[in-house]
Amino acid sequence: MSDTNTERPAIACKGITKVFGTVVANDSVDLQVKYGEILALLGENGSGKTTLMNMLSGIYHPDGGQILIDGKEVVISSPIDADALGIGMIHQHFKLVEVQSAMENIVLGTKGKLPKTKQLRRDILAISEKFGLEINPDQKIYEMSVSEKQTVEILKVLYRGARILILDEPTAVLTPQETQKLFAILRKMREEGAAVIIITHKLNEVMEISDRVTILRKGKSIDTVITKETSPQKLTELMVGHEVTLEIRRPEYEDPSDLLHVFHLKVDKPDGSAGLKDVNFVLKRGEILGVAGVAGSGQKELCESIAGLIPVKEGAILYEKKDLKGKTPNEIINMGIHMSFVPEDRLGMGLVASMGMVDNMLLKSYKNTKGPFVRRKPARKMAKELVKKLDIKTPSVDMPVRMMSGGNVQKVLLGREIESRPNVLITAYPVRGLDINSSYTIYDLLNQQKQKGVAVMFIGEDLDVLLALSDRIMVLCHGEVTGIVDAKQATKEQIGLMMAGAGEREVMGHE
Ligand SMILES: Nc1ncnc2c1ncn2[C@@H]1O[C@H](COP(=O)(O)OP(=O)(O)O)[C@@H](O)[C@H]1O
Ligand SMILES: [Mg+2]
Repeated sequence: MSDTNTERPAIACKGITKVFGTVVANDSVDLQVKYGEILALLGENGSGKTTLMNMLSGIYHPDGGQILIDGKEVVISSPIDADALGIGMIHQHFKLVEVQSAMENIVLGTKGKLPKTKQLRRDILAISEKFGLEINPDQKIYEMSVSEKQTVEILKVLYRGARILILDEPTAVLTPQETQKLFAILRKMREEGAAVIIITHKLNEVMEISDRVTILRKGKSIDTVITKETSPQKLTELMVGHEVTLEIRRPEYEDPSDLLHVFHLKVDKPDGSAGLKDVNFVLKRGEILGVAGVAGSGQKELCESIAGLIPVKEGAILYEKKDLKGKTPNEIINMGIHMSFVPEDRLGMGLVASMGMVDNMLLKSYKNTKGPFVRRKPARKMAKELVKKLDIKTPSVDMPVRMMSGGNVQKVLLGREIESRPNVLITAYPVRGLDINSSYTIYDLLNQQKQKGVAVMFIGEDLDVLLALSDRIMVLCHGEVTGIVDAKQATKEQIGLMMAGAGEREVMGHE
């Protein structure tokens, strides 16, 4: 990293190291950001981004290295210290009190005497105006959208007078339009002289919003580059450590025909609230139906209800004219309907952690079990083939999957479903946290399935990927389908509007 800049950095990390048990989450990391600058922190899942930022906000303490603010070494032993030093962090999971208003949340935990409510409201509105935030100080958190809650988090930090702002994957929960609003706020902060660090996986966002990019790989700071002088291709290569090709195919399938019909599907969430409200769609053989939506729009309920894991409240799921309602998960698998869901924390992915790949394959191959004797030989062969085909890094197919890295576990998970020769393959977030190469391996696999005539439903997060890979895209918002569109025709903006609740006719009609 060059130190040719005469301006003093707002915050600098020098040789920061953090170890959790046997994992070196940060390995002598260097990073600095100046006032009036937006720095993107880029790296694959698990590369140590959140850990590093948590040390700047006083949640973790470094095992080695220094943190300097305005050129002076500091010890940040708690979030209160961070507050006092002018550091504010917007976490991935918001820390707001739902039953309180925006205003109450904003002042929560501030020291000293609070101004009178009237004055407080004026202060908050003044900050909002200055930075272009849209907020009603009296609105309760539970009445707000995710994007509004994020705005409250930002205000909370600004109210405390933070000059150094850290945002951990803030756009993961936003539609493209909401992301643009957030970026406008960040640019305004930069104008006002704040130092901003933003974590995002999305390369187009990095290119758009940042001045410089620091890349972490496996806990180490690999390089810092000037955004204007780099490209998504170069950033990807820095991130994964080798050359990559970024191209997604969309092969044509001869004769897509309807296979799975979902009629007026209603499903409840575990808390009794509506998870899916009157969902209707068809899934065809030989297509990839992409499913878009901000996190928590009903994706989980859709997967789980088709897989028979949660009850259908109303409506029907017809597979070759047979209703799946009331069938057990095993019966549904035996009909050839397979699902793999990678949750946000990547735990509970439907594998038994203490077992090796072979036993995990056996667990799911009900179709092949004849009588009480499980056939280990074919399962072992299958596991070995998968290791080769998907480039799974494991010393042995019998090593407990808990000892494998998250990305490799994910490949096992999807690979197992594919090896069972499904007719319908439902896959949710299959590339979550995978490196770029592995992601493209997965896209290829899905395309191969489609070309074999499998009906593929792909629930994704990255709209660019959804638009490139899918044949059609179904958009979910608050448990409802707001549109089903041709992926070759739709734009990111149109999908974004539907993700926020606009109807298909409204969005696609004004072309
Ligand atoms: N509290 C913790 N305990 C143990 N390991 C952790 C903890 N937090 C993070 N890790 C590990 O540290 C590494 C870096 O994680 P993290 O900083 O969350 O990465 P990123 O934010 O880049 O995805 C990962 O291997 C993760 O499993
Ligand atoms: Mg993280």
